[in-house]
Amino acid sequence: MKTDELREKYLTFFESKGCVRRPSDVLVPKDDPTVLFTPAGMNQFKNQFLGIGPIEFTRATTSQKCLRTGDISNVGVTAYHHTFFEMLGNFSFGDYFKREAIHWAWEFLTDKSWLGLDPTRLTVTVYLDDQEAYDIWNHEIKLPSNRISREDEGENFWPASSPSQGPDGVCGPCSEIYYLPPGGTKSVEIWNLVFTQFNRVGAPPNNLQPLPKKNIDTGMGLERCASTLQGVLSNFEIDILKPICQAAGEIVGVKYEYGAPAGRALRRIADHVRACSFALHEGCGPGPEKENYIVRLLLRRALMEGYLLGKQEPFLSQLVPVIGEMMKNPYPEFRQTIEAVQNGILEEEKQFLRVIESGIGRFRKLVDQAKRDGSPTISGDAAFDLHQTDGFLIELTESLASNDGLTVDMERFKECKEQHKQTSGRGAFANSVMSAGPLDTLRQSGGTQFLGYDASDATADVVGIIADGKLVNAFEQHDVQIAVVLNRSPFYGEAGGQVGDTGTITGHGLEFVVQDTQRDGELLVHIGVLKTGKLAVGAEVQAKIDLSRRAGIRRAHSATHILHHALRKYLGENATQRGSKVQEDELRFDFAHSSGLTHSEVVKIEDEINTRIAEGASISTRLMPIAEARTLGAMALFGEKYPDNVRVVSMGEFSRELCGGIHLANTGQVGLCRVVRDELVAAGVRRVTCLTGPKALERIRETEALVKEAAALVKGQPDELPRKIEALQAELREAKKQLAKHSMASLTEAAEQLVAKAETINGVKLVVHNATGYPRESLKEFADRIREKAPSVAVLLALVADDKVAFISSVSKDVLVSKGLNASDCVKTAAKVCGGGGGGRPDMAEAGGKDPSKIDAALEAGAAYCRQKLGA
Ligand code: ALA
Repeated sequence: MKTDELREKYLTFFESKGCVRRPSDVLVPKDDPTVLFTPAGMNQFKNQFLGIGPIEFTRATTSQKCLRTGDISNVGVTAYHHTFFEMLGNFSFGDYFKREAIHWAWEFLTDKSWLGLDPTRLTVTVYLDDQEAYDIWNHEIKLPSNRISREDEGENFWPASSPSQGPDGVCGPCSEIYYLPPGGTKSVEIWNLVFTQFNRVGAPPNNLQPLPKKNIDTGMGLERCASTLQGVLSNFEIDILKPICQAAGEIVGVKYEYGAPAGRALRRIADHVRACSFALHEGCGPGPEKENYIVRLLLRRALMEGYLLGKQEPFLSQLVPVIGEMMKNPYPEFRQTIEAVQNGILEEEKQFLRVIESGIGRFRKLVDQAKRDGSPTISGDAAFDLHQTDGFLIELTESLASNDGLTVDMERFKECKEQHKQTSGRGAFANSVMSAGPLDTLRQSGGTQFLGYDASDATADVVGIIADGKLVNAFEQHDVQIAVVLNRSPFYGEAGGQVGDTGTITGHGLEFVVQDTQRDGELLVHIGVLKTGKLAVGAEVQAKIDLSRRAGIRRAHSATHILHHALRKYLGENATQRGSKVQEDELRFDFAHSSGLTHSEVVKIEDEINTRIAEGASISTRLMPIAEARTLGAMALFGEKYPDNVRVVSMGEFSRELCGGIHLANTGQVGLCRVVRDELVAAGVRRVTCLTGPKALERIRETEALVKEAAALVKGQPDELPRKIEALQAELREAKKQLAKHSMASLTEAAEQLVAKAETINGVKLVVHNATGYPRESLKEFADRIREKAPSVAVLLALVADDKVAFISSVSKDVLVSKGLNASDCVKTAAKVCGGGGGGRPDMAEAGGKDPSKIDAALEAGAAYCRQKLGA
């Protein structure tokens, strides 16, 4: 049975049981701080499981795109491990429970009109004390007791071991179904039925709270089940994966065969590129942090596999069309982004190959150093430096180091990384609140009604206060950051790129300054500090947003849509949105595009935006079913999750986008928009920054003032600036020439003096001198001048520049031959004292040192070496 057929059969079967067929959720969820990628089918239904919010259906079925990286080193090695895979699931939210879940699973697996598997090849497991599940299997399905085993929470609870180890949240015992393939010796788990009946809160004991309604969450690995039905040795041999492995083999230049030595590498390449392609399709490209880092890691691991097979040039991007072909039935939209995905992958490949080339030299030095020092480890600082400055992934450093029998000091590496970590996006406080448990508790009593599309202030009740990670009933400490949840609010919570509102919450002598608003599902979380009075749950308050800031945000948001339109008009339909950040009169817009904008493109885009602004086109919003919005051509983001009913923002006839943000009434209110920057942010993704309204005007004035100031400095008019600057540059060039002539003369003079007062040892002049003050570039010239002045001479010079020490040694041939005084040894001896090293030819060598305070001691050490050689 083909994989596409299996997927379709599963969904059809569960539809016949009353489950609503839902599309796969996104792979990279933006509103769930607990995961980087969707790990299972149930993730999109977390609220339904907790009984939060409105519920439109109580049974569902999906085929979910998932990505897990926990077992990454097994991918390609074992028959069944993947990073990216699809999970077939059926779900009940307080509707059917164990009996139906078990009966239907059995029917689907064994009934001839569905999968028709041989029932004698199936065995199951249940959780230790789940007698109910045991009895259903044993008494109702009539599975003999020797084919039912009881397992502990590590095996038969989901998430695994959650009762004792967490995480908090919905969980429950499960029952797994195993299949023994014909000819096989080991049964394979093909389906996990989870009876989601608890909410875990905190550590044991008594931490499993029964949920108000019992739920079902099941997961069947699509690839795994397909491989058993297709009777093949591994998931990678099924109809939708083998062609990717084969294509990888063709591109790399080795034939793909399951048991061949290159098989593992090619499977890994196929898996990782498939995973990254789907992430990039949703706009999640390679980068330094979080999910982007995982994408980078997977791509680089795949590239490394090819590199080691001898393919030392980019090749991964060529696999994307093959992946598009394999996945065209379930995900037809993937094919629309193939080009952008390929560009993203190709850029990263090129970058990484450069990294390998440039970093490998530095890496070798670290290995040599460790070996010289007799150390079994590469220091965490050095590994971090390599990671930070050369883009060497730590995993790469580790694996290359292990080839030399070395390890990396990971503890120290992590410390260094932590120190350098730049907090971006919302602050650490917001992050901690958003991932904390108290919000789950608040959610159960309903969400915050958002009033901010129409209102800027409102009366509301305080329903929750979170201080120090805990829910409190009242709070009166001033100037400490806390979070406040209201039952209704005009504050917009950060979403869709638009920043959260700021403002005040006041009443009964209290003033709370809102510094940021975040959204968590249906809740609006006001983050800020209490200035006066006391906050208490239940209190009636007045919530008021900072209107002038909000006005700037609206201008920037509407301008973002106009910019999107202009980019697509002048750069092509492929210039699709990848992300945005909309702030007060400032916007950043990321979009798929592989080259920088030319000046004339920027001008055209800016003109288009301002023409649309001058038009004063009306802006309207309408709620409509998602299907209708798509028919109308509304632009949506791949990888963004949309509800069934969406809000569509239209501007005149030229722009229509799915958007929950806050806009102006007509485009004219933007006033003015300037493009102020265009930069590369990730492979194949560019970022344009624009200013709107007063900020745009302010920028123009600032630029004018700068031009005026510069003109005044060169004593001319602004339009004379280029000519005046050219003249100054010519003057400067001439002055430099003169200076160089002079300094040559002064070098010659200094050389003469040094030679004159140098000590003579057995007929050889020894010139050792601290030349700090001379430019770094003149050091060689200086040494040459000294050599010219004395026929038999050994020279050692050093100087401090840019906080580092530079050494040079030069030795006349006769000294080298008769005394064995070697310039290379001389600089090495000296540089070592300053914590450095170097070398070169026996008659001329250079070195560097790190510690300028030791320069004199270093020169002394060098001199001692020379004296000894000269027989002093
Ligand atoms: N959520 C369950 C799993 O991932 C079905 O195994």
